[in-house]
Amino acid sequence: MVSVNKIKENIYQIKVIDREVRNFHGCVYPVLHGSTYNSYLVLDEQVTLIDMIDDIYFDEIYPEIIKLLNGRDVDNIIINHVEPDHSGSYELIINKFKNAKTYTSKAGEKAMQAHFFKAYHYHTVGLNDSIKTGKYTFSFMETPLVHWPDNMWTYLHEEQILFSNDAFGQLLVDDVVYDSDVSLFKFVDFMKEYYANIVYPCNVNVERALNALSKSKWSLKLIAPSHGLVLKDYIKESFSLYHDMIGNKTIDKAIVVYESMWGNTKAMALVIANELKAKGYEVKIYQLSRCHISEVMKELCDAKLLAIGSGNYNNCVLPPVAAFLERLHSTKYLNRQALVFGSYGWIKAPLQKLVERLNDANFNVISDPMYIQYVPNDDEKSDLQQAVNLTVKKISDL
Ligand code: FEO
Repeated sequence: MVSVNKIKENIYQIKVIDREVRNFHGCVYPVLHGSTYNSYLVLDEQVTLIDMIDDIYFDEIYPEIIKLLNGRDVDNIIINHVEPDHSGSYELIINKFKNAKTYTSKAGEKAMQAHFFKAYHYHTVGLNDSIKTGKYTFSFMETPLVHWPDNMWTYLHEEQILFSNDAFGQLLVDDVVYDSDVSLFKFVDFMKEYYANIVYPCNVNVERALNALSKSKWSLKLIAPSHGLVLKDYIKESFSLYHDMIGNKTIDKAIVVYESMWGNTKAMALVIANELKAKGYEVKIYQLSRCHISEVMKELCDAKLLAIGSGNYNNCVLPPVAAFLERLHSTKYLNRQALVFGSYGWIKAPLQKLVERLNDANFNVISDPMYIQYVPNDDEKSDLQQAVNLTVKKISDL
């Protein structure tokens, strides 16, 4: 479904709302409610299209573009990001508007050629470059690796709008247009989920981009991302979230994740979670095979402690735990503590492997692995509680 929203006189958001899609960016980001993709059309003496959408939606968006154009052509196409959810329709669009000039970053030109195998005539732009389209002036800022090397931001001076592409995006699937059309809590929660799953590994580059933005002195009335709602009233809070993420800010929060074959590692997870809660931690507990990984990643991004447990599967950790460890490894967490636990049968659970993988992923495993053979009895549960208490003390002494 496509909705067209006027965000300013002559400036339109063309938004695909896909409530059916369940995987965003391949399988790494499962989405419960679907996803959205935004393109923007700016009508001036020249018409400018900012970002496109995956070609699977072309047949839906093209008639809407034609309606807005009312007989005019697109004169300029700005590609802020080459990833197919924002440039997939490019060839279909440029073949409809053959005289349009295409603007992208230097890395964008390279990536476009690698995607479309054709040397369309790209105009490469970067910081200090501007184009005039009549009364409007667009400037550019390269933001490499937020989220791919080709990313850039486009700024419309006269209306003080930043077209930020992936940055400040959220997969908030709603028919409303602006951030304040939903509660601040809901908006920030979705932005946090998106940050945790897409942007977090780019933290260093986000910091660089925000510093460049601050030096640019571009005032921001609106931020128009290519996923989700337009930022108008929650800009300050969104920057605050981004700064917390860049700073790896954590709170007294623990995420307990586990996989369990016969419920014994689960029983350990529950004892650990309850004890952490009793010590004042905010605690979230997840069985990895039964949850959306995107939810765990969102909750983990401000948690001080990760407790992770696995039963023994032929001397290996259970497959959902192995997959989760790989995911942790792909995210650049800093200053995080971890605790490992697991129940085993006749050979001790392979928790040492778990420790090694956590260390590889920048986690500091703060206490010895906690093993229990078969079913945890009352004494063993009490030992677990004591181990948790010691861990909490060690963390507070850091
Ligand atoms: Fe929404 Fe990096 O693409």
